[in-house]
Amino acid sequence: MLKGKCILVGITGGIAAYKICELIRMYKKNGADVKVICTPNAMNFVTKLTLQNLSQNEVYVQEFDVKEWKPEHISLADEADIMVIAPATANTISKIAQGIADNLLTSVACAFSKKIIIAPAMNCNMWNNETVQENIKKLQSKGVEILEPESGFLACGYLGKGRLCSLEKIFNETVEALSYSQKLAGKKVVITSGGTIEDIDPVRYISNYSSGKMGFALANVAKEMGAEVVLITTKPFEAPYKIVKVKSALDMQKAVEDEFETSDIVIMAAAVADYRVKNQAEQKMKKVAGVNETLTLELVQNPDILKCLCEKKIHQLVVGFCAESENLLENAKEKIAKKGCDYLIANDISRSDIGFSSDDNEVTILEKSGKIEKLEKASKKVIARKILEYIYE
Ligand SMILES: Cc1cc2nc3c(=O)[nH]c(=O)nc-3n(C[C@H](O)[C@H](O)[C@H](O)COP(=O)(O)O)c2cc1C
Repeated sequence: MLKGKCILVGITGGIAAYKICELIRMYKKNGADVKVICTPNAMNFVTKLTLQNLSQNEVYVQEFDVKEWKPEHISLADEADIMVIAPATANTISKIAQGIADNLLTSVACAFSKKIIIAPAMNCNMWNNETVQENIKKLQSKGVEILEPESGFLACGYLGKGRLCSLEKIFNETVEALSYSQKLAGKKVVITSGGTIEDIDPVRYISNYSSGKMGFALANVAKEMGAEVVLITTKPFEAPYKIVKVKSALDMQKAVEDEFETSDIVIMAAAVADYRVKNQAEQKMKKVAGVNETLTLELVQNPDILKCLCEKKIHQLVVGFCAESENLLENAKEKIAKKGCDYLIANDISRSDIGFSSDDNEVTILEKSGKIEKLEKASKKVIARKILEYIYE
């Protein structure tokens, strides 16, 4: 699976460092060339001898132990296809986020221009520390993939979030990251995500349960596939591509229309409200006993953004999403015919294990031609990749 790939494993001074010996074996068993860099503090937790034997390579720790004309922080960064830092301490995460390069590992990370995966592990209070969280967000916004720690019993005796995620997860994400081809290079992909917010007055609104995660996953995968990505969303995501933050259906329509002409693929994964309040109150509405015991809101239809795009599309490929709580396929077939989009991704929102807010999804792809393809339950990232590859093919 990993033949011909060079993986740079960075180990920092956390108690979970011992687990990475097994991860190195997994990479090696699958044919990868593994090079290990440890922070000096990591050497308190694992030995150079063990890592050297498992990786069958020299283990790098000291930055100034330079043997060749090209310093190791440059040559190691140049040679590797991916860098995986696990476990990543709060200290190293924060240094990398701030561009601090004060040891070999942080210097290599600073000089590394390809994909970096970071698997943090630490005490739950360290993980929840505001500065650490800001640094995590900063790294995500630069395209670093963070494999969130898990909750459970921690080595420090606390119960909470901070345990290194499973080695299988780190391994699978590495394989996945290395397998992306640049199929969408030169293409502009516009994606919408999240539920729109329709104001009633300055403090109240009508919305829906959409978390925006499916659209975010599609945007991330499209970026990995080399596309120029624009994510138009109602949610506060951080990512290394253009994000246009919107609120209402009307805002979303304007933002999509601004990007439409120059786009190649438009994926409408957002849950756009069908209706908005006709007369939004400028001031907070008050209840007065005996005067307004009941309240009636008059709603007006929002524009059908998907249908409007399909009517004006020239070269663009337009993909819609439909969330149904019953008769999924029947409703989806009716919708693709009515809207005129090239593909429709049908989502069953009646199940709690997939769809809204869940990290997993199970969808059916409908084509304009009538072809139907069901994608079995998987993480939204895997589903996103399958959708984009299906469309590409
Ligand atoms: C026994 C022990 C266990 C530690 N475990 C962790 C840990 O799991 N995560 C973490 O962020 N820091 C942990 N620390 C603190 C780090 O070792 C410390 O912040 C150090 O400066 C990290 O250096 P490095 O990031 O250069 O490796 C631990 C410290 C000790 C003494």
